[in-house]
Amino acid sequence: MQEPELREPRLHVGLIMDGNGRWATTRGLPRVVGHEAGVGTVRRVARAAPGQGIGTLTLYAFSSDNWRRPAAEVAGLMGLLRLYLAREVEVLRRDGVRLTVIGRRDRLPDGLAEAIAAAEAATRAGTRLHLRIALDYSARDAILAAARAAAPDATREDFARLVTGDGAPEVDLVIRTSGEQRLSDFLLWESAYAELHFTPCAWPDFGEAELAAAMTAFRSRQRRFGGLPAAA
Ligand code: FPP
Repeated sequence: MQEPELREPRLHVGLIMDGNGRWATTRGLPRVVGHEAGVGTVRRVARAAPGQGIGTLTLYAFSSDNWRRPAAEVAGLMGLLRLYLAREVEVLRRDGVRLTVIGRRDRLPDGLAEAIAAAEAATRAGTRLHLRIALDYSARDAILAAARAAAPDATREDFARLVTGDGAPEVDLVIRTSGEQRLSDFLLWESAYAELHFTPCAWPDFGEAELAAAMTAFRSRQRRFGGLPAAA
């Protein structure tokens, strides 16, 4: 697959995929149908990402606080993740996508951690896109675990490696769908200087056009990282 030549480093975009439940209930459907529709968006967005200059895409699939949801919804979500791994890994591998999962693995239903490890191994060589799925993920827990593991004289860079787990770069842009404007314990360390983009579009309705619009808005921002504008 040929991408247009890029004039900027490849970006890290974090996606808070919100609004599946509302999308379904406003249509009189069970919430899990919204999650099923959301998997379609995951496919579309992963396919579109490299062409938008995105090198790393982190998707918030299940937060550590999502265990509070009804057991049937949790089981539905875990089933969808299992199915996604089973069906998609070969396509991801073929498309040069490296898949990794961040978050805890010790509380996942039987066999899922093994399926994740197999998917990670099968896609290890991918360089076109690093697709990260945050599953049983809490940014505060990741920071706490890093603090416990860090040497007393650890540098910021050392600490960042412990927090991210897989060496992913800092986040350039966080997109949240469906109107809420909060970070909900997602990539808090990595997003220190991320731009934020909130869209009313529900995740199942999000697609290539909405991603392109978010990237255009991002490129119009002036990022100063605490400094002054270049011309000042
Ligand atoms: C938030 O919508 C969405 C989630 C908690 C789950 C996201 C999961 C998927 C899109 C499917 C599986 C993911 C992958 C990577 C295959 P919500 O249920 O909180 O929506 P609401 O705010 O309208 O209730």
